[in-house]
Amino acid sequence: MGDDSSDELSSAAESLRDAAFEAMENAYAPYSRFRVGAALLTTDGTIVTGCNVENAAYGEALCAERVAVAAAVAQGLKEFEEIAIASESDDPSPPCGSCRQTMSEFARDLRVTSYARNGRQATWSLSELLPEAFALNHLRGRM
Ligand code: THU
Repeated sequence: MGDDSSDELSSAAESLRDAAFEAMENAYAPYSRFRVGAALLTTDGTIVTGCNVENAAYGEALCAERVAVAAAVAQGLKEFEEIAIASESDDPSPPCGSCRQTMSEFARDLRVTSYARNGRQATWSLSELLPEAFALNHLRGRM
């Protein structure tokens, strides 16, 4: 998978993308000024969103993707099909390593689509972004 700005989006993909951009509007990013929104599609068709939430103690910043995962889990939703990420970057912004690990806990092969402001987009599978995720089976010492 990879970059593609020419693909026609399905209406479901459009809704997910629009939800991510809407969530981006709520980003609290006065320090980096890099606003990010995320929209998770659950297997029951629910969309749960998140945005980045920064803090004067810089290291406490929360990424949009992890906020969306936490919000979904708090609603009892743990099965995910896709995440759309929206940012103000010129290039589609891939999820950071911590977010990859967090998403992998619930959906090893999640479809990840990132949208830039200018219409460019990129799609990856989570397993290609994080091929060797640490998981419960390692914790228990078995394969
Ligand atoms: N950020 C996200 O929200 N998601 C990512 O995957 C990468 C980074 C946020 C964290 C911080 O608020 C800002 O972007 C700059 O790093």
